[in-house]
This record gives sequence, C-alpha cells and structure tokens, in this order.
Amino acid sequence: MTKGFLNRLLPASALALAGALALSASAWADTIKVGIIGPFSGPFALQGKNFQAGAEAWLAQNGKSVAGHDIELVYRDLPTANPQQARALAQELIVRDKVQYLGGVYFTPDAMAITPLLKQGNVPLVIFNAATSAIMTSSPLVVRTSFTLSQTTTPLGKAAVERGVKKFVSIVSDYGPGVDAEGAFKKAIEAAGGEVKEAIRIPLNTTEFSPIMQRIRDAGAEGVFAFLPSGPPTLGFVKAFSDTGLKKAGVKLFAPGDLTQESDLPALGESAAGLITSFHYAVSHDSEINKRFVAAAEKAIGAPDLVSFPAVGAYDGMFVISKMIAATAGKQDAEKAVEAVKGLGWESPRGPVKIDPETRHITQTIYLREVAKDAQGRWINKEIASVPEQKDSGLTK
Ligand code: PHB
Repeated sequence: MTKGFLNRLLPASALALAGALALSASAWADTIKVGIIGPFSGPFALQGKNFQAGAEAWLAQNGKSVAGHDIELVYRDLPTANPQQARALAQELIVRDKVQYLGGVYFTPDAMAITPLLKQGNVPLVIFNAATSAIMTSSPLVVRTSFTLSQTTTPLGKAAVERGVKKFVSIVSDYGPGVDAEGAFKKAIEAAGGEVKEAIRIPLNTTEFSPIMQRIRDAGAEGVFAFLPSGPPTLGFVKAFSDTGLKKAGVKLFAPGDLTQESDLPALGESAAGLITSFHYAVSHDSEINKRFVAAAEKAIGAPDLVSFPAVGAYDGMFVISKMIAATAGKQDAEKAVEAVKGLGWESPRGPVKIDPETRHITQTIYLREVAKDAQGRWINKEIASVPEQKDSGLTK
C-alpha cells in the first residue's frame, strides 16, 4: 500500500471504524438474551422443538428487535424431568450467559427447581408448559402462558355425564400435574352426578400399559379419565387403550388434550377416533391469527403435522417477554417486568387470553374437542364446545 493511498483512505476508514465501534457497542449493550430450557433431545424432543418453533414463529412475525433492543434466544437441553440438572442449567444461564429472561420448561419438577433462583438472579421466568397449579405460588417472578390440569380438566365432568358416562377409573402419572388432574376430575365428575370408583397413580416413567388396561377391565368401569405428560407416554397409553380392545368394548376415555396432541394423531389414526378431550389449544382452531401462527410454526419446525400445544405456549410467552422488555426499556428489572404484564390481554392463536393479575397464570377459553377427520382427511382435535374465560381453578388466590 502506498502512503498516498493510505492518506486518502484514512479519514474515511477512521470514520467507518468509529461508526462500526459505536454500532457494535450499542448492539452489544442492547442485545437481550432469553434463555429457553426444554427437551430438545431424547424421547420428548418434539415437545422442545415445539418450544423453538413457537418462539421462532413469534420472532419471524414480529422481528428480532423490541423497542430498539435485539433479542437473542439461548437454548439449553433438558431431555427429561431432572430438577438438579434444571437448576444447574438455569444457574448457568443466569450467571454465565447473563440472560435477562428465562422461558420454556416442559416438566413441573424442573420449574419447581428453577423458581428459587429467580429473585437473586433478578430474572423473570415465563413458563411455556409446566402445568401444575402450585408452581405460581413458589415465586412472584413466574408468569405462565400454558395451562393447568385443573383448568383443562374441569369441563370434562359435565361433558362425560352428558354423554351418559358416570362411573370412572382415573389414571394419572404420579407427580404434580397428575395429582392436580386427578383432584380436578373427581371434583368435576361428582359435581355433575358421577363418581370415580378407583383412582390409580402410575410412575412417570411407565412405558408398558397393558397391566393398567387389565386393571381397567377388571374394575368394570364405564369410563376412564387419564392424564400423562404429552409425548411417548400418551402415545403408548392411547394405543394400548385401543389395542387391548377396551375402546372397542365401549369403555369411554375422557382426558385433557395432552393425550391427543396433533403430532401424535397421524400415528394414532383410528385408535384415537372419537376420543373426547378438553384443552386450551387445537392446531385446527379456526381463526386468521391461528392460521398465520401455524404456517410460521410449521416453517420453523420444518414439516407439517409436527406442531402441537407447546408451540403456542412459547409463541405467547415470547409476546409476554416482548412486553416486559418494552416496559423496562431493556433494563434488567424482574419485578417491574412482571408487574407490567399483570392484567395484559391479547388475541392468541388459541383465542382471547389474559394474564390474571392475581395469579400470573393465563386466563383462557377451554375447548371440548373430538378426534375426527377434517375435510382433507387429516386427523384433528375438532372443537365442539367452548368454555370462555377459565382461570386456574386450582389456585385459590
Ligand atoms: C408438566 O410436567 O407440568 C407437564 C408435562 C407435560 C404435559 C402436561 C404437564 O403434557
């Protein structure tokens, strides 16, 4: 390079360099990290991929910058319920990665392990799935955009009795959301004039369901109520219910929609046909905003038929986080961030929703659905009735 050439370049390049430094300094300062913990590998990987698809669908539609602050998502893999690992991952995200927000969390025990870290870390947690009512009382810095088992299960009592099914065996996974579901169903079915004759709790890691099906047969139940966490357990349960002949024998299965998530329906096919479930979200929900959401989530997940409810929890969770970022002008103030979204209402792909200012849990419509084929011959959760503005009845506050 000649001296003349350098001289000619210097003022301009110095300017450019100063500009670039200023830009990168502001970009650095203004990037807000959101740590998302979920099962991205292992048997529940599709549930984690739905977190990712929902979060990325929101960014694709709304842009990666909120009120001048760039959002960076930092994913951490937690394949199965593992409170110790959950706590370590959250700690690492807060201390080392300096995330300003935490999101995600599929399993209740993991959420329970993370909430004690929030206050000291000055970080809100927006739960995209974990659905036990009591999580909300474990920290004032938790907001939840998913559902609770109490919320989704309650309308099933009346629905069952209206269909002439009154005597039930209840089967739940033996942990937080299962215990909540068992209690909510018992209350709901008794209020409607039915009864639970036997309540069975099975280990969370149960994979062999034929002995349970035998117990249902032996109990002579008219109806079965069941909750298991969505993923391989629900697929195995619904298949066994059909394969062992209980469905054909006329025993009626009623369940929250965890048992018929859309990503399982192609594999379940006829085994799930006619099942009545109640839930906060169906991929087939008929609204413009849902159609746009499903298209964006399918694009993010890379294939049709893989999108299910954890995606909508993540999508709405990102909306809530964006409101928190705007309300705090990008500064790290967990209390102010949570305060800002209390009472926040919006139109979600699932329907109208609101963050209950008392409980910080989402108030929403719960839909009664039936597994059926749509006009294109695809299995869907067809909405047949709706109960609007359902709060979490499991929380007394
Ligand atoms: C939970 O652990 O809270 C949980 C997991 C999967 C579900 C529902 C609840 O489908």
